[in-house]
Amino acid sequence: MSLAPLARIPKAELHLHIEGTLEPELAFALARRNGVTLPYADTDALREAYLFADLQSFLNLYYGLMAVLLTEDDFEALADAYLARAAEQGVRHAEIFFDPQAHMARGVPMGTVVTGLSRALARSEERHGVSTKLIMCFLRDQSAESAMETLEAAKPYLEHIVGVGLDSAEVGNPAAPFREVYEAAAALGLRKVAHAGEEGDPSYVWEALDVLGVERVDHGLRSLEDPELVARLVRDRIPLTLCPLSNVRLRAIDVLEEHPLVKMMDAGLLCTVNSDDPAYFGGYAGDTFHAVHEALALDHERVRELARNSFVASFLDGSAQDEALRARYLAEVEAYPLDDITG
Ligand code: HPA
Ligand code: ZN
Repeated sequence: MSLAPLARIPKAELHLHIEGTLEPELAFALARRNGVTLPYADTDALREAYLFADLQSFLNLYYGLMAVLLTEDDFEALADAYLARAAEQGVRHAEIFFDPQAHMARGVPMGTVVTGLSRALARSEERHGVSTKLIMCFLRDQSAESAMETLEAAKPYLEHIVGVGLDSAEVGNPAAPFREVYEAAAALGLRKVAHAGEEGDPSYVWEALDVLGVERVDHGLRSLEDPELVARLVRDRIPLTLCPLSNVRLRAIDVLEEHPLVKMMDAGLLCTVNSDDPAYFGGYAGDTFHAVHEALALDHERVRELARNSFVASFLDGSAQDEALRARYLAEVEAYPLDDITG
């Protein structure tokens, strides 16, 4: 089914794990190519396993399926498939996470991952009309020493990487041990984001801000529980990269109708909506816009505000060239004819 015009409004995707775009069909194709045996009979059986109780139950499957990603060509194919789908969904700019530790632990070197992804990203503007940036995430359920070694391993590839993030199992894995690695990343000129407040309480968001010094919070879903935190996020114009379909699938909320997005926007928070791990959570960026428009009865101005916010919150501010690109995208958002369309 093709996507409604409203959902294809020009937008940036700021919270997207490239490994979370691995569709079952590509997973099985890569498994065949690489001689990897998956513990599922076929793509239907794999899809049937996509019933998650929480973040950890998803992560178990997500890390397991990465076994099929071995070569530069595999990472290139993964990223190219995502960018083609993103383009169909109105994505004009994508800031893409990857999890190098999950690959290095399987014997796949940093260079294989970054070179493969970068090959797809380098052609993306020409082939798909989507500009891109790459953000390297540290796994918060691994040690800070491992994160520091990962940063070291990334040094030959920093021309391809705009920033660092922090993901994986949140509760019980506070950000504080990662202070030094974030300081080292900043000293290398890297931008800083971190997952916080997805399952964790507002203290995790405070720590991302005060200990890591992040300039954007990934999720931040539980921020409304702490009015002082809201005041801080509003004062400093810290963007939140919310992922509503992910929140439903990982049971952070019961149903999309209960998502606090509108309350968060009303509180003055700079909200964006994103797809997180779209192969697993039932929708890409445009599908996500469509779903929140329907479930939360967003009017056209709210939809336009979300699209505008996505470019405002992006890292398209590092150079005159990036600023010009952002200005062009923002003009596309304002010119997009929402009032003539329904759905
Ligand atoms: N949360 C934390 N870590 C992740 C996620 C997520 O939603 N997706 C992939 N790694
Ligand atoms: Zn995420």
